[in-house]
Amino acid sequence: MYSEFKLAPSILSADFSNLQGALQICDQGGADWIHVDVMDNQFVPNLTIGPPVVKSLRKSTKKFIDVHMMVINPENLVEPFARAGADNITFHIEASDNPEEVIDLIRSTGKMVGISLKPSTPFIEIMPYLDKIDLVLVMSVEPGFGGQGYIKDSTKRIAEIKKYLKDNCLERVQIQVDGGIKLHNAKEVILAGGDILVAGSEVFGSKNPQKVIKDFYASAKSINAS
Ligand code: DX5
Ligand code: ZN
Repeated sequence: MYSEFKLAPSILSADFSNLQGALQICDQGGADWIHVDVMDNQFVPNLTIGPPVVKSLRKSTKKFIDVHMMVINPENLVEPFARAGADNITFHIEASDNPEEVIDLIRSTGKMVGISLKPSTPFIEIMPYLDKIDLVLVMSVEPGFGGQGYIKDSTKRIAEIKKYLKDNCLERVQIQVDGGIKLHNAKEVILAGGDILVAGSEVFGSKNPQKVIKDFYASAKSINAS
């Protein structure tokens, strides 16, 4: 049941002067996805990575590159990130007046499509688009910074979304959870319905990040076995 679990380490918490090292850590730990947090200092009060960095990452890894756009006017960045080599492109529902257009644009590039929700945004806002997307990214902190604490209500929200997807034959839509994910709460989040967990500070803040990645998978596996 949980065999599809994936970990997406967020390089936001990695050493930006050594991203190749971060990719090696992800390889050695066996992480499935590389999560790239794109911030524009407008949608969120922080400024991070653009398409040229993704292009360099693409040259250095065969892993799945997961771009989380925390930007206004997401339609402007879809093609640049697709060309740079992203495999999934997620945008925020709060950042777009025309989500359908952004979805179609991402789809036209052949990439996977994700929509993200801030903690206070009702799930109902993305319901009309669920049959057109591949994943829902549930933010379990306010977007903008790594290292924040997991918002406890997120677990209930994930379970409700999972139930809705199941009841509406939308189980192919995966739930990704991002923010405050640690080894100590991973099981709770997976049991609620999280398919893909993003972890930044827990992985890259550790002295042994490869082991942390492995421990996340072991945690998911232990649910599977029980
Ligand atoms: C926050 C980002 C997250 C962040 C998670 O806006 O979307 O991906 O890197 O970091 P941690 O795991 O430290 O909460
Ligand atoms: Zn993120």
